[in-house]
Amino acid sequence: MDFSQQHAIITGGSSGIGKATAKLLASQGANISLIARNLAKLEAAKTEIIHAFPQSKVFIFTADVADRAQAEQAIAAAIAQQGAPDILITSAGIAYPGYFQDLPLEIFERTMAVNYFGTLYCIKVALPSMEQRRQGSIVLISSGAGLIGIYGYTPYSPSKFALRGLAESLRGELKVSGVHVAIAYPPDTDTPQLAEENKTKPPETQKITASAETWSAENVAIAIVKGIEKKQFAIAPGVEMGILYKLHSLINPVLNWQFDKIVTQVRAGKK
Ligand SMILES: NC(=O)c1ccc[n+]([C@@H]2O[C@H](COP(=O)([O-])OP(=O)(O)OC[C@H]3O[C@@H](n4cnc5c(N)ncnc54)[C@H](OP(=O)(O)O)[C@@H]3O)[C@@H](O)[C@H]2O)c1
Repeated sequence: MDFSQQHAIITGGSSGIGKATAKLLASQGANISLIARNLAKLEAAKTEIIHAFPQSKVFIFTADVADRAQAEQAIAAAIAQQGAPDILITSAGIAYPGYFQDLPLEIFERTMAVNYFGTLYCIKVALPSMEQRRQGSIVLISSGAGLIGIYGYTPYSPSKFALRGLAESLRGELKVSGVHVAIAYPPDTDTPQLAEENKTKPPETQKITASAETWSAENVAIAIVKGIEKKQFAIAPGVEMGILYKLHSLINPVLNWQFDKIVTQVRAGKK
């Protein structure tokens, strides 16, 4: 893989999957722009990348991507600093699992604002510079929960389904202008986000997700970077995600049967 002197903008690049992908791209010669809210985490990620790959130019930009003006300013500043992006990865995302009735509406609104609109705003503002050069890759980060609705993820799953709708409808439009669109469906990945999710996951969700293999952020990053290189549309790392991506509608009744059985067992155990 050779991304020499390419400019990669990565939202959510200060942690987890975004940071691992930034590091992998930097190791292949790319220059990196990281966008996230917390300056200290951004600075730490920048130091980590430069320390490992001193040839890489790394710039950081603070923004809440759910705020349209902040997202636009951060992308514009990254372009002003390092030129049009060859790669845009929208990894900024949040997840608050819980029972539908217990979660306030604000969580649903915020999750859609960050995961869906935070992605959309960044693509909108980066795209003209990519279309002008008729090149580049845009990678949206969805989730297995963007392929099937997961118990306890009523704010999160719809936001990740929405990204799938955006990527699928955008793909053809951008193909004619030379810009590659991809969507990644990472499995459970060992990141700070997953650790936070585990604190509020209902026990039924814990049990449903327990059998799924947990990936490292580094291995998910390898799948994402390979997907960019091969200009894949769907990036579904591993066998489980590969099957889920290809067969989700077909196997949905079986999965629902299995999930319902788990829910009944967990609830019986609670009594
Ligand atoms: N971990 C998993 O199991 C898993 C599985 C499937 C999909 N995903 C998806 O992968 C993506 C990355 O998740 P991760 O697990 O790597 O999480 P993570 O380690 O918590 O990283 C999330 C990143 O997003 C940034 N971020 C969060 N809210 C933001 C906002 N409003 N504006 C700008 N930046 C924001 C965070 O920095 P600040 O907090 O400083 O803003 C951080 O850099 C997410 O879209 C997630 O839904 C994760």
